[in-house]
Amino acid sequence: ERHSAKTSLIGAIDEGTSSARFILFKAGTAEVVASHQQELSQKFPQEGWVEQDPLEILNVVTLCIKRTIEKLESLGGSASDIVAIGVTNQRESTIVWDKTTGLPLHNSIVWLDMRTASTVEQLLETVPNNTKNKNYLKPLCGLPLSPYFSAIKLKWLQENVPKVKKAMVEEKCLFGTVDSWLIWNLTGGIHITDVTNASRTMLMNIETLKWDPVLLRFFDLPASVLPSIKSSSEVYGTVKSGPLKGIPISGCLGDQQSALVGQQCLRRGEAKATYGTGCFLLYNTGTAKVTSAHGLLTTVAYQMGPNEPAVYALEGSVAVAGAALTWLRDNMSILPKFSDAEGIAEEAELVDGGDVYFVPAFSGLYAPYWQQDARGVICGITEDTQSSHIVRATLEAVCFQVRDILEAMNKDYGSTLAQLRVDGGMTANSLLMQLQADLAGVSIVKPDMAESTALGAAMVAGAAVGYWNIAESNIEIPLKVWNSRTIEDERDVRYSRWKMAVERSMGWDS
Ligand code: G3P
Repeated sequence: ERHSAKTSLIGAIDEGTSSARFILFKAGTAEVVASHQQELSQKFPQEGWVEQDPLEILNVVTLCIKRTIEKLESLGGSASDIVAIGVTNQRESTIVWDKTTGLPLHNSIVWLDMRTASTVEQLLETVPNNTKNKNYLKPLCGLPLSPYFSAIKLKWLQENVPKVKKAMVEEKCLFGTVDSWLIWNLTGGIHITDVTNASRTMLMNIETLKWDPVLLRFFDLPASVLPSIKSSSEVYGTVKSGPLKGIPISGCLGDQQSALVGQQCLRRGEAKATYGTGCFLLYNTGTAKVTSAHGLLTTVAYQMGPNEPAVYALEGSVAVAGAALTWLRDNMSILPKFSDAEGIAEEAELVDGGDVYFVPAFSGLYAPYWQQDARGVICGITEDTQSSHIVRATLEAVCFQVRDILEAMNKDYGSTLAQLRVDGGMTANSLLMQLQADLAGVSIVKPDMAESTALGAAMVAGAAVGYWNIAESNIEIPLKVWNSRTIEDERDVRYSRWKMAVERSMGWDS
């Protein structure tokens, strides 16, 4: 189909942990006109450390933009058809750079990085009354003390990298999550973030939506490094150079929040799970902030403009989902390609030795446990166990971890979810989808459109410039549904075994 010259387009930069992409949507629709995706490398300088080069992130994004525009031009369109750009990104990963030279002062410390486990221990010592309560700051920021969040990573940089400390003292240091880094570079120096990304740093007050002096004091971090916090949908600035020169950047959302928006979960009680490197389940709680008593995070879901109220979500974050398949492929060599997982796990159904449980707690356990000392375990192995059973147990581990989150959400919020919308790379695996329905007893609904995350960013960017009426838009996306084929008793037997396996994974690194 040739591109009509009159079509207005919205661009979405989607910068994830393992790849970046730039996608052009027809304004007001889920229709992709052109896109380009490029892998990103990760560095593992020590066990448990995960870094990325901020300049590589920027170069890969720039390349995705260039290639997409070339594709658009080959379809008869031009960059001048693009009316707005949205940014969505891997969250929490922490970048510091020099505001005079623009150069990074260190590699990005990626969200999964565990180097700060001892920083967390040290901070727990400072909690008043010697309680070492990891939820001490939760009433202010919605999050427990964990290596996952940006403030801990920034604290580590301040304490361990003299160059960073010096730049902080001289007020030359800028901090940002990946959204801030990209927007600062694309606009030629506008230092902002949005409420959703800021809500993952542990430095923003979840109610006032401002950087909180109490939190800054707790971490002893200088306010001079921080970006300004903006809503998710407003014009932040325009692109300074390159093929998108002059186009406004008018939307920004952390990638999990963006998928929630892209999945049209815009009403209280709607939830989605994105199955990628990790798995993230977000439950829209409306304008009410729900504090979890069962290990979930309170986070900002979106704020549709500077004068709009924030909408909140309860989030269950699972650190390892697709990453466990990468481990089977690269470290265990029992999975030739990701796409083989479905066929191999199906074989395991037909033979004995299958009651195997794999808790892939490679970097501790996130929600609802928040145990940084947990490590991976495989339980229930017999002489009949084949590698196919391990592959199947890996898929089931993803499903059990999602059930853990659903159980916690049910306890916190009191309503059982009838339907869970899903997206992300792993949802191409239909066996996984069926297992999820069977093991959690919930219907799984998958839109026939893989780019929910990018769509969310396009929606908020388009809305800010008057090209997307989110409240009234009725995006028609065909859906595929998997219903549960199990009865409660069956599900509960398997789930209680999973819980036994989780018990065994804890306390290994203490
Ligand atoms: O919290 C981390 C999350 O935002 C990473 O998402 O898609 O890059 O694995 P992804």
